[in-house]
Amino acid sequence: MKILSGYASVHGSTGEIARFIGQVLKEYDYDVTVEDITHVTSVAEYDAFVLGSPIHGGMWLTEMSRFLARYEQELAARPVFFYVTCIRVLEPDGYQHAQENYLYQGVLNDIGVNVKDVGIFAGKLDLESIDWRERWTLSLRYDGQEIPGALSSDFRDWPTIRNWVNQIRVALEKE
Ligand SMILES: Cc1cc2nc3c(=O)[nH]c(=O)nc-3n(C[C@H](O)[C@H](O)[C@H](O)COP(=O)(O)O)c2cc1C
Repeated sequence: MKILSGYASVHGSTGEIARFIGQVLKEYDYDVTVEDITHVTSVAEYDAFVLGSPIHGGMWLTEMSRFLARYEQELAARPVFFYVTCIRVLEPDGYQHAQENYLYQGVLNDIGVNVKDVGIFAGKLDLESIDWRERWTLSLRYDGQEIPGALSSDFRDWPTIRNWVNQIRVALEKE
């Protein structure tokens, strides 16, 4: 089975998660390609998709929306596992907030994507490495209670991500 672990990313941390997911799937003997979705020119060869984007300004990246729209037919016909990375999930009620506001499953269903499972993962925020425009976006658009500066660190939880990949494996075995 050929799987695309496709990602959108601004600062690279979601790309690292996509590579990790690819590595775990390879341990299970899947044939995996890890790729930035903006570089993907065809998805015809894939039997399943694991797609991830960070949340910036309350929404997944436009690149991901474009990818979902462009390959809508293929993504409707094959299993898709979708995840977002964010910092809001770290706050009290954060998982529910992210589920309702960042990853509303209805949005994915409306665009026809065959989503089998969704993941919400804590990401990585390094305020020192972002420019003033991004700081501005973050301070204006971040919809949590915390000051984003208090959430500046690498929060990626690799065992949690591995567990999610295990769920993907179980779901794919049922396909
Ligand atoms: C400009 C900017 C805006 C962001 N907006 C949000 C947001 O609205 N909600 C949230 O939970 N996280 C937000 N984040 C945190 C990112 O989702 C997190 O840092 C993510 O792991 C970044 O992934 P990347 O390194 O692949 O770009 C924002 C980060 C930046 C830099």
